[in-house]
Amino acid sequence: MEPRRILLAVTGGIAAYKIPELVRALRGVGHVVRCAMTAEARHFVSPMVLQTLTGETVRTDLFDASEEGEIDHIRLADWAELVIVAPATAHTLARMCHGMADDLVTAVLLATRAPVLVAPAMNVNMWSHPATQANVERLCERGVHRVGPETGELACGWEGLGRMSEPEAIVAAATLVLGPDTLRGEKVLVTAGGTAEPIDSVRSITNRSSGKMGFAVAAEAARRGADVCLVAGVTSLSTPSGVRRIDAHSARQMRDAVMAELEDSTIVVKAAAVADFRPAVQEDHKIKKESLEGQAGFNLRLVTNPDILTEICERKGDRFVVGFAAESHDVVAAARRKIVRKGCDLLVANDISRSDAGFDVDTNAVFLVSPSGEVEEIPLLSKPEIAAQILDRVEKLRRERQ
Ligand code: CTP
Repeated sequence: MEPRRILLAVTGGIAAYKIPELVRALRGVGHVVRCAMTAEARHFVSPMVLQTLTGETVRTDLFDASEEGEIDHIRLADWAELVIVAPATAHTLARMCHGMADDLVTAVLLATRAPVLVAPAMNVNMWSHPATQANVERLCERGVHRVGPETGELACGWEGLGRMSEPEAIVAAATLVLGPDTLRGEKVLVTAGGTAEPIDSVRSITNRSSGKMGFAVAAEAARRGADVCLVAGVTSLSTPSGVRRIDAHSARQMRDAVMAELEDSTIVVKAAAVADFRPAVQEDHKIKKESLEGQAGFNLRLVTNPDILTEICERKGDRFVVGFAAESHDVVAAARRKIVRKGCDLLVANDISRSDAGFDVDTNAVFLVSPSGEVEEIPLLSKPEIAAQILDRVEKLRRERQ
């Protein structure tokens, strides 16, 4: 594995005594490690020990001018490819959950775009308390990764869940979060979500899409080390760690954002559900019903939106372009025709008539269709798993092409 830049955020629990061992284990597999500590953590492990083991200055104080002068907290947050919070106390998890930034560690955690892995450690009752459980659940929903805690004898004398995972388990979890590094050096442009085409200042027509599939592709590409730009349509999802996001709500805004980012991109994944039509006239005020009095209804004239995928494929060059297809019947036959019509290198076809795949749900089942008409069926899996399968296939086809 390539060496990666890991920021180890140490907080104030007795398990901090294991952190020197964790530093050695991370360095042992070749990573560069820097440490940041809370004031409480210094009761359990000395900054001097961590400085000696990492060979890097240990940061402890947000407001220390000389520390900030050397590497300020924003640069530290940007430097990290992964932040590990170990031990993660109940108090730290609560502060993370609420987005607090009242010391160096929480400020860095709020500022970083890197993935975050927490290794909780606390008394069994503190861990099982509904407040801690709710905080951990919310953090995980936001994409924070977790390793442990484990069951065993706790420093406080209780037995049960609450022990910090052993350093080897934390290193293994970090390796999983960091991903295989196979897309390092690549610039991946992903679109996701539906577009909304305004009728007036309050109404719009839109396509159904949660954005989950495209966001999963963006997250997986970032996990594999790519520089990822995600052009997001209408979605309520939060940005995956390590991903740069541009919001573009209408098809035309999405087209402009995509074209502005296309030049640098080496791989494009077009998962967005772009509305094919928009109202010919978009009123900048609310259309009042009284203005329609005497009329039996309201006629909306639609005009065709640009086909972004076709436009990308016309300028494809050496890029690898993946399109998606939402099909309600004859899925494979329709996808075979669509890949030829659009001119992309791979088409991911969704059967939108299924209730367990496609729109809104967390799972998907797809067909991967190549320009020659070859088809690979991917069975029902979680969207992150489908994203991994798509990128595995992209990597394989690019290797074959080279
Ligand atoms: N797409 C696009 N711009 C559009 C419409 C679609 O870039 N105006 C892209 C989608 O992001 C997707 C692919 O084209 O990658 C196929 O989208 P889909 O909705 O399945 O097909 P359409 O081109 O809209 O064709 P049809 O509605 O006839 O199936």
